Amino acid sequence: MADQGFSLLILAAGKATRFKSDHSKMLHRLAGRPLGDYVLRAGLQAGPERTYMVIGHEADELRKVYARPGMTFIEQREQLGTGHALMVARPELERCPSPSLLVLVGDVPLLRSQTLRAFVEGHAKSRAAATVLTTRPPDPTGYGRIVRGPGNRVRAIVEEKVATPAQRKIKEINSGILCFARAPLLKHLGELSSENAQKEFLLTDLVEIFNRHRLKVGAFSVADAAEVEGVNDRAQLAEMEKILRLRKAEMLMRDGVTVKDPSVTYIDDEVDVGPDTVIEPGVSLLGRTRVGRGCTLWPYSTIIDSALGDSVTVRPCCVIVKSEIASGAGIGPFAHLRDGAVIGERVRIGNFVEVKKSRIGRDTKAAHLTYLGDANLGERVNIGAGTVTCNYDGENKHATVLEDEVFVGSGSMLVAPLRVGRGSYVAAGSTITESVPAESLALGRARQIVKEGWARTRGKGKSSAAVMVRDVGPVSVFLVAGPLTAGEAAKTVGRKIRQAIEGGRKQVLVNLSGVLYLDSAGLGELFRALASLRSRGGQIKFSDVPEKTLRLLRAAKLDEVMEIYPDESTALASFGTDRT
Ligand code: UD1
Ligand code: CA
Repeated sequence: MADQGFSLLILAAGKATRFKSDHSKMLHRLAGRPLGDYVLRAGLQAGPERTYMVIGHEADELRKVYARPGMTFIEQREQLGTGHALMVARPELERCPSPSLLVLVGDVPLLRSQTLRAFVEGHAKSRAAATVLTTRPPDPTGYGRIVRGPGNRVRAIVEEKVATPAQRKIKEINSGILCFARAPLLKHLGELSSENAQKEFLLTDLVEIFNRHRLKVGAFSVADAAEVEGVNDRAQLAEMEKILRLRKAEMLMRDGVTVKDPSVTYIDDEVDVGPDTVIEPGVSLLGRTRVGRGCTLWPYSTIIDSALGDSVTVRPCCVIVKSEIASGAGIGPFAHLRDGAVIGERVRIGNFVEVKKSRIGRDTKAAHLTYLGDANLGERVNIGAGTVTCNYDGENKHATVLEDEVFVGSGSMLVAPLRVGRGSYVAAGSTITESVPAESLALGRARQIVKEGWARTRGKGKSSAAVMVRDVGPVSVFLVAGPLTAGEAAKTVGRKIRQAIEGGRKQVLVNLSGVLYLDSAGLGELFRALASLRSRGGQIKFSDVPEKTLRLLRAAKLDEVMEIYPDESTALASFGTDRT
């Protein structure tokens, strides 16, 4: 039996001319993996002794993307054709121990390793100098045609550009994949020339060269043309993507996953999904994502490089990146988990909640409108709606620790670094800046003020005014705001002052700072109060009279009977002096 050992050489130096791209075709992604990764994997699975990749365009990037144990990169600085790529590889090929060299193009992603193995075995058995992997696609346009000779041997491969009309009618094409016996390859490689229509060194010209030397060139035909279909432009890339995604969905469905509509579900090649998981339309499972058993993924979520346990529910429109979600958790709708969010068992992450680089202990809930960044939450913690961990001070990120069973009231700002001890409560609406010990209540908010009747008098009817009364020692201070004119307003003010007087108040200060308008009705009320108080031996003073109002009082010479002070404190002080 012939020695079936072989080495693998992948041609990947070319630019993607028909992609109209600044980037190498080998860096374009197909169903989540770099385009050339498919051929490389199939090739490696076929079991080569050595693996070479000829690179040129964006060589450094390709080195990073395609590095594998045992991979040798060969740089073809100038891309003078597929034949030239082999000429550049010559020093490596001379050291290569294998009797056969399998040459692959990088852009045939559907190629299977079984096909490659059969191809290499067939080549070795036939003892040909070269064997071409051929097929008969529905439309052979663009491919090199196989010209057969006596005994079904391959006499030449004619590229489309230089083919005669008769040759163009040939249905059998060159897949671009060839197997060479290494010895004749090295012996005749130097005979390639670029003096042809393409002005390139064409690998396919070796067929004619071998024929000239009476060396045998055979063909190995694959029935399914799709398997060796090349991706030469972006339209073909999209077609191929569709095929691969459908295939992936079918594989998952056979393994017990429900995929409601595979044509609008995007599952990358390396994704794993457990049985009885239901995937609704519009879901994207990308990168190295793992989904457990019995999960429900509602429509339109994107999950990238993440791991989901069993019975996880992801409601619509979530974005989950580089995160872990333990079994029984419920996420979304509209949640965003990213950069190392670790969600515990049965956790509930609700709508408009973002979790970044945080651990959330089991049975914890953050159901609405919350940001948790650089946080570590214990078990059974409750996060009220609108809670924010203020983790960034403009320069650094700080941690927030909420121990087990902490209850954070809605609308709280947790200013990190911060630790809230086990079982403690944060009152709703708090801004918490200092750590809280266990089993405590932390309140951090301004005290509430109620201005009774404020709304009733605010802008409703032109005659509305408001009065606020407070006591400063023995003095009742009336703060009047709004126009003091005929109608309810003036009467209310007057009534309130009289009430105070009747209640035994002897000293009254009326702060008129908010009174920009005063008419006879308003004045009348003030004077009634003044008269009533004086008759009881009390005092009434006024302060903060706006300029406009003051002019009015002066015009009526009323300033002579009213004690008017520029401000409250002066007025208040004057009561004291009067008493002495
Ligand atoms: C090639 C074949 C054609 C075949 C078709 C199948 C030749 C001359 N033609 O044509 O018969 O039907 O594939 O898809 O081989 N490359 C290099 N260095 C170079 C030029 C190309 O490494 O200097 C690499 C490219 O990156 C690519 C592969 O070789 O991976 C094939 O090159 P491409 O330009 O796609 O050849 P085709 O015109 O498709
Ligand atoms: Ca091609």
